[in-house]
Amino acid sequence: MELGLKNKVALVAASSRGLGKAVAWSLAREGAKLVICARNKKVLEETADEILMETGVTVFPLAIDLTDAERIDWLIRETLDLFGKVDILVTNAGGPPPGDFIELNENDWKKSIELTLMSVVRLTRAVIPAMKEQKWGRIIHMASASVKQPIQGLFLSNAIRPAVIGLTKSLSQELAPDQITVNAVCPGYFSTNRVKELLRNKAKQSKKSVEQIEKDLISQIPLGRMGNPEEFGYFVAFLASERAGYVTGTSFQIDGGFVKGLM
Ligand SMILES: NC(=O)c1ccc[n+]([C@@H]2O[C@H](COP(=O)([O-])OP(=O)(O)OC[C@H]3O[C@@H](n4cnc5c(N)ncnc54)[C@H](OP(=O)(O)O)[C@@H]3O)[C@@H](O)[C@H]2O)c1
Repeated sequence: MELGLKNKVALVAASSRGLGKAVAWSLAREGAKLVICARNKKVLEETADEILMETGVTVFPLAIDLTDAERIDWLIRETLDLFGKVDILVTNAGGPPPGDFIELNENDWKKSIELTLMSVVRLTRAVIPAMKEQKWGRIIHMASASVKQPIQGLFLSNAIRPAVIGLTKSLSQELAPDQITVNAVCPGYFSTNRVKELLRNKAKQSKKSVEQIEKDLISQIPLGRMGNPEEFGYFVAFLASERAGYVTGTSFQIDGGFVKGLM
C-alpha cells in the first residue's frame, strides 16, 4: 500500500532513541521529511545521519529539552522556517520516573506534568495554526498501555497520561472541521532503554534478577515477547498517512495483547 507520505513534513519529538527513533525511521522510509529532537545533541545528530544515509530524506536534528516552553516554540518556528509547513506531529518525551504514591514528592509531580502533559499541550498548540491553514494535519500523541490498565510502580504515568487521552479526544472534535486528525498510541512493552531501565529498577527493588523480572513480565504478554520498536513505527506511519484520513479521536494499544480490557 502506498501511504502517501512522500514529501510530507513530520516533526517527531524525543526521537534520538527508542520508540521516537523508530517512528522517525518509518516515516523517513515512506519519504517524509523530518525534524527530530532530543536533549543529547551528539546522539541526535548520529540518528539524523543514520536516517539520511539510508533513506536520503532531509532530516534536521534540533536539540531541545521538551520541558522548556520557550524551546518548544523555537522548535516549531524553526520547523516552519526550514520547510514552510508541518503536516505531521508526533508528540513523545522521556517517561516519568517510576515510584509508588508515597515515594513521590511535589517536585516529582511538577516535573512529570511538565514532561508528560505540558510538552504535549505546547507542541500541539504550536502546530495547529499551520495545519489549519493548509486544512490537513496528523497529530499523534504518545501515551502508554497504562492509560488502559494502570501499571504497578508507574504511578506518575498511570495518573498523568490519561490527561493526554482527554486532550486527544477533545482536540479531535475541535480540529475535525479542518481535516486534522488527532489520535493517541499506547505502547505496551517494547525493547528500549526506558524498558531496560524499568526492569533493572524493579529487579533491584524485588531482589530478583533482571532475567527473572523480564520472564515474569513476558508471561503477561499473550504474544510471548516484547515488541520490536520497528513494529511500533510501522503502526504510527500508517496513522500519520493519507490512508488513515477517517481515523480520529481514538487511542490504540500496540501491546502484543498485554491489556486485558475490552476497549
Ligand atoms: N518502550 C516502551 O515499551 C514504552 C511503553 C509505554 C510507554 N512508553 C513511553 O514512550 C516514551 C518513549 O519511550 P522509549 O522507551 O522510546 O524511551 P527511550 O528509549 O528512553 O527514549 C527516550 C527518547 O526521548 C528523549 N528525551 C527524553 N527526555 C527528553 C526531554 N526532556 N526532552 C527532549 N527529549 C527527551 C531521549 O533523548 P535524550 O535523553 O537525549 O533527551 C530519547 O531520544 C516514554 O514516554 C515512555 O514512557 C514506552
